[in-house]
Amino acid sequence: MPPRARGPQARLSALVRAAADARKRAYAPYSGFQVGAAVLAGGRIFAAGNLENSSYPLSVCAERNAVAMAVAAGQRRIEAAAIVAGDARPAPPCGGCRQVLAEFASAGAPVIYASTNGRSVATNVGALLPDSFGRGDLRRASERPKGKGRPRGGIPV
Ligand code: THU
Repeated sequence: MPPRARGPQARLSALVRAAADARKRAYAPYSGFQVGAAVLAGGRIFAAGNLENSSYPLSVCAERNAVAMAVAAGQRRIEAAAIVAGDARPAPPCGGCRQVLAEFASAGAPVIYASTNGRSVATNVGALLPDSFGRGDLRRASERPKGKGRPRGGIPV
């Protein structure tokens, strides 16, 4: 039998390992909460930890750093993501990171988040961020006919 293609699902355990490894190098001296994230893009794994700053709001989540690495390497499509954070309960990605993942991943792209004690939750981008705002909404906004009065139905804006 020919070897099966190593698609996103098959690479989830490698993604989780990469995220766990990146978590160890996270720079989180202020919160003490280390997060590691890894994304699969173009068949490659990009992993990073969260990066905090003494000016707290400048801190960047692990997921966003991993996405930035993939995009900086020329990737535009994220096929899967893994996050490792939390001791007992796997910490889910924050709302902002869900939006950033959705920019580059389809709704069906698998996401797994795991705790350091090995518990994990498997889901996908669409389940994490249903009815998400995206580039299509910007396009539709600019296509709205001008000077034709209010659209029928809905709440006039
Ligand atoms: N953090 C992440 O890296 N990803 C998330 O999805 C949630 C929060 C980081 C940000 C901050 O450095 C620390 O966790 C505590 O909020």
